[in-house]
Amino acid sequence: MLKTLNVIGCGRVGQTLAALLHQHAQVQVQDLYSRSFSSAEQAAQFVGAGQPVTELAQMRAADVWLLSVPDAQVGAAAQALAEAQGPNLAGAIVFHSSGFLSAAVLQPLQALGSHVGSAHPVLNFASPDTGVRQFAGTPCGLEGDAAALAWLHSALTAIGGRCFEIASADKPLYHAAAVFSSNFTVVLQGIAQDAWHSAGVPPELMRPLTAALLQSTVDNVLAMGPSKALTGPAARGDTAVVQAQGDVVQHWSAPAGDVYKTLSELAAQLKKVGKTRV
Ligand SMILES: NC(=O)c1ccc[n+]([C@@H]2O[C@H](COP(=O)([O-])OP(=O)(O)OC[C@H]3O[C@@H](n4cnc5c(N)ncnc54)[C@H](OP(=O)(O)O)[C@@H]3O)[C@@H](O)[C@H]2O)c1
Repeated sequence: MLKTLNVIGCGRVGQTLAALLHQHAQVQVQDLYSRSFSSAEQAAQFVGAGQPVTELAQMRAADVWLLSVPDAQVGAAAQALAEAQGPNLAGAIVFHSSGFLSAAVLQPLQALGSHVGSAHPVLNFASPDTGVRQFAGTPCGLEGDAAALAWLHSALTAIGGRCFEIASADKPLYHAAAVFSSNFTVVLQGIAQDAWHSAGVPPELMRPLTAALLQSTVDNVLAMGPSKALTGPAARGDTAVVQAQGDVVQHWSAPAGDVYKTLSELAAQLKKVGKTRV
């Protein structure tokens, strides 16, 4: 049966999910609200459906509500929605898309009789365009009450997501794993490029060097798992090299030296334990 969907927060994730749900999941996008009216208008254009509104109180009652606002705003948006809509929310499904927060942050809506949940697509949503193009096959971590979970599982599967459940209490660590996997990989690339630059590597070789090492590393981690893919002095047990190289890095940049030391210890540990989880 066709469900109506209202969206609060018309940024990258809000526009992407609204467009995909509208196209593939028997969802009618109804009203769109964002901090700025222009974002709601832009979302209506991108989705090809939905009525932009300027006040939460103008939104019509809907079967499903998506709060795709920044993490720091989810609690306040839930409270504002509860105050603006009150009893209209009884029986509705309300979900947010944060990887860090659990559905407990939607408590003011649960108190009004809403079914609450969260759905975190593990994808880098650089823009609504890339989100729509890259979404198929994206793992989506779900948590919340039974009714919210059932709808989220069915709707996100319909748009190509691969749903799995994550315990509410585990979300902060689960999201930290995404930070290690994606964000910190990027930070380490930044350090490596600075170090190559300081060591006199010609600028035109920066990209080929990065591509050769990063791509072969990704391929090997995916094929063999982290432990077997790990090479380098710490993994080989070359402790004298680790010590001397660590001193050089510490002298070049103290924060990078600290990271080098900690990661060398973790590298030796990873090789010893031999984890191969991929
Ligand atoms: N980006 C990712 O890769 C990614 C991946 C998975 C999950 N997520 C999660 O998805 C959620 C949204 O992230 P995003 O990347 O889509 O953020 P975003 O592009 O910055 O979009 C957030 C939108 O919410 C609007 N907004 C901010 N505060 C608001 C409020 N109080 N009431 C109504 N609208 C408000 C913003 O304002 P304007 O109206 O001014 O534009 C903006 O359009 C976050 O919980 C994030 O953790 C993000």
